[in-house]
Amino acid sequence: MLAAAITTFTGCDKKADTQSANPQGGGKKLVVGFSQVGADNDWRVAETKSIRDEAAKRGIELKYDDAKDDMSKQLAAISSFIAQGVDAIILAPKVETGWEPVLKEAKAAKIPVILVDRGIKVSDESLYATLIASDFVAEGKMAADWLAKKTGGKANIIELEGTPGAAPAIDRKKGFADGIAAFPEMKIIAAQSGDFKTAKGKEVTETLLQKHGKDVTAIYAHNDNMALGAIEAIKAAGKKPGQEIIIVSVDAVKAGFESMVKGELNCAVECTPLLGPAAFDAVDMALKGDKFDKKTVVQDRVFDQSSAATELPNRKY
Ligand code: AHR
Repeated sequence: MLAAAITTFTGCDKKADTQSANPQGGGKKLVVGFSQVGADNDWRVAETKSIRDEAAKRGIELKYDDAKDDMSKQLAAISSFIAQGVDAIILAPKVETGWEPVLKEAKAAKIPVILVDRGIKVSDESLYATLIASDFVAEGKMAADWLAKKTGGKANIIELEGTPGAAPAIDRKKGFADGIAAFPEMKIIAAQSGDFKTAKGKEVTETLLQKHGKDVTAIYAHNDNMALGAIEAIKAAGKKPGQEIIIVSVDAVKAGFESMVKGELNCAVECTPLLGPAAFDAVDMALKGDKFDKKTVVQDRVFDQSSAATELPNRKY
């Protein structure tokens, strides 16, 4: 599904020659910088692999930088790509804000920036060419709908949030809140960030279970890795994950499926990290000066223990 305004990225005239020399043979090899926010959950590793694989398939030289979850490192990586004169930049941004100055540098250098997986907030949308991402609000809503059905609209919920300020953390929270609003007996009794990481999800759940243990009937985690950490904490507290505490999360990575097959994780809302092909199609279009959608929304599905075993062999990440 394509959404939002159709615009033309106008900052790419200089690069059009490079591109026309490249993809269909001849000329100079295309060079693309990819700034990845980090590598410490299954989803992000899969996204990096998808982008690396697609670059290799297309004969594109990929300059890769892992910012190790540090925003200043990510900004420095983009400045460095600009200084190296890459043809285009693919950016998986940590948080929504703080990008304007570096994106202005890229625009001045006529280097198109393709955003993947997370959106940003800028006053001038021409600072990036396009965004390819899931609808995180819809994912949160799907998680809430599933949980409402499973619990008959009655649950005391711990919410494990993603990285503060990151689009999926903000939007998945909103979507879930919207979804449970119709159910007065579904309450979020505690919410804390687990930073999209297994270890942090475990640590936060341990603390929250100590505080609210007997009241907790469900956990909503903004990603599978935090849910998997929560499952470890629930077991350590002597409770049965998937039975005494119902767990719903987002991503649907292989490890999430394995946990559903074991009867621990109850439900995973899909968020695909396989964005490489779409990202490089966007690079091509931006470099050619083609018109294209400002945002491409990736479609996601919902899996639970009833569908996990059948789907597991098909999972690519
Ligand atoms: O932006 C996508 C989210 O970020 C994924 O759900 C999560 O696992 C990742 O770190």
